Amino acid sequence: MELTRTADLWWKTAIVYCLDVETFSDGNGDGHGDFRGLAQRVDYLDRLGVTCLWLMPFYPSPDRDDGYDITDFYTVDPRLGTLGDFVEFMRTARDRGIRVIADLVVNHTSDQHPWFQSARTGPDSPYHDWYVWQDKPPPDAEKGIVFPDKETSLWTYDRKARKYYLHRFYKHQPDLNVANPAVRDEIARIMGFWLELGLSGFRVDGVPFLLETGGSDDAELLPDPHDYLADLRAFLGRRCGDAVMLGEVNLPYSETMRFFGDGDGVADELTMCFDFIGMQRMYLALARGDAGPLAEALRERPLPPRDGHWATFVRNHDELTLDKLTDDERQEVFDAFGPDKDMQLYDRGLRRRVPSMMGGDQRRIRQLYSLLYSLPGCPVLFYGEEIGMAEDLSAEGRLAVRTPMQWDSGPNGGFSTADPADLPGPIPDGEFGPSHVNVRDQERDPDSLLAWMRKLIDRYRECPELAWGEYTILDTAEPSVLAHRCDIEGTVVVLHNFADHDVKPELELDVTELEDVVTGERITLADNKKVTVELEPYGCRWLRVV
Ligand code: GLC
Repeated sequence: MELTRTADLWWKTAIVYCLDVETFSDGNGDGHGDFRGLAQRVDYLDRLGVTCLWLMPFYPSPDRDDGYDITDFYTVDPRLGTLGDFVEFMRTARDRGIRVIADLVVNHTSDQHPWFQSARTGPDSPYHDWYVWQDKPPPDAEKGIVFPDKETSLWTYDRKARKYYLHRFYKHQPDLNVANPAVRDEIARIMGFWLELGLSGFRVDGVPFLLETGGSDDAELLPDPHDYLADLRAFLGRRCGDAVMLGEVNLPYSETMRFFGDGDGVADELTMCFDFIGMQRMYLALARGDAGPLAEALRERPLPPRDGHWATFVRNHDELTLDKLTDDERQEVFDAFGPDKDMQLYDRGLRRRVPSMMGGDQRRIRQLYSLLYSLPGCPVLFYGEEIGMAEDLSAEGRLAVRTPMQWDSGPNGGFSTADPADLPGPIPDGEFGPSHVNVRDQERDPDSLLAWMRKLIDRYRECPELAWGEYTILDTAEPSVLAHRCDIEGTVVVLHNFADHDVKPELELDVTELEDVVTGERITLADNKKVTVELEPYGCRWLRVV
């Protein structure tokens, strides 16, 4: 297909790489990662094939939710650098052709934000109505708590205001009142500010919570919150025509679809939604050695609007949530990939990374990433996945998977020259620690996971059919095999074996010859259009129709 189209709707074949500036690379030796350190690593990201960086929150913050608790939306946390450093980094990324998006966390602020401190003084404060207050918590105040290990209610009493305020997340994160037009204007201003500094869009945090206006007195009178999301998207489009909103919406497919909007260019909402359902069904398939649950999810998954797209991932910065599986299914995944209580979180997820969950089995790890790049959607990587970093369970909660990037086998894994006590988190030791898993060694090893990732990313970019094509799940009569084809001005057929033994699935295809995209091997089909493809344990094949 014509590559000019992929340059236009760039997000459809993007490689998104999520990182936290604080844990990526320390440029000034104070123990914190910073924008100077990140800028020095841009060429590494470019060599990997990254086309878009997603920066986790880098704004000033008391850091009680790793930066998702913000006290100023318009600048950089001094620990991470200055606005000047940010601009220098942006310029360097742009020079290498890498776009940048950032977390837009506007469902709430930190309770230390000057707006909230002013709001607490009472109704005379211009900021009072920027938050959601009630004299008494509503009867369902305990429903839908996101962090059940820390919170018991969505409403907390504020002594100064003498009222309860709404917080969907931690109590130190009061929810902003998006029903208030002044708040809406401010959110647009925040977006406009960062777009002006060169961002290509936002990863929008907790979108369903952001749109939720149920806590307001006049909730029924308020306009449809989806109109608001469409307004935001239209604003984004006016300010920067090809900017995107990548939304965190963890809901069943039918409900998630609403967040794409009408897709008619008039009431578009999110450009991309993460495929939380596909991700969870994929882990169930992996646990069972049976491709069925993933095939089923892909068959069920609705098509996004024409210019919209699913974003796929196998790990992110939070707990690996399994909340949309049944209790029994979740238990199967826990048993396979995180049997100890300490590996689990909130009774719904895992705080481990891929290599340790797969028991260090390179075949399984490599297969999982082959799935990530070949399943229809835009792949989103979490830093360190490309080299196979694992977690450190000694860190609290979700921080287990947010340890510093492992650059080399030297002190602090090459992340920083500071005293280890000054680092943002522990450096894991053991088989996945920097002495065994680091960028420097893998860059020199053609058989490393990093080399495999680069190869997959290259092939994914060479096969835009995967992202743009219409996909079909193929029957192979082999339960452990997922076979799918993607068609658009060309066809790519991909097979994955979920079993720990060889399989020889048979495919029926209306073609005469296939070429292995990785090895170049040619396969000619018999006259009956049938072909048997050999797959090793946890093997994968990407085949292009010649
Ligand atoms: C989102 C983020 C998570 C954060 C929460 C509150 O779910 O992914 O890391 O804690 O929002 O902002």
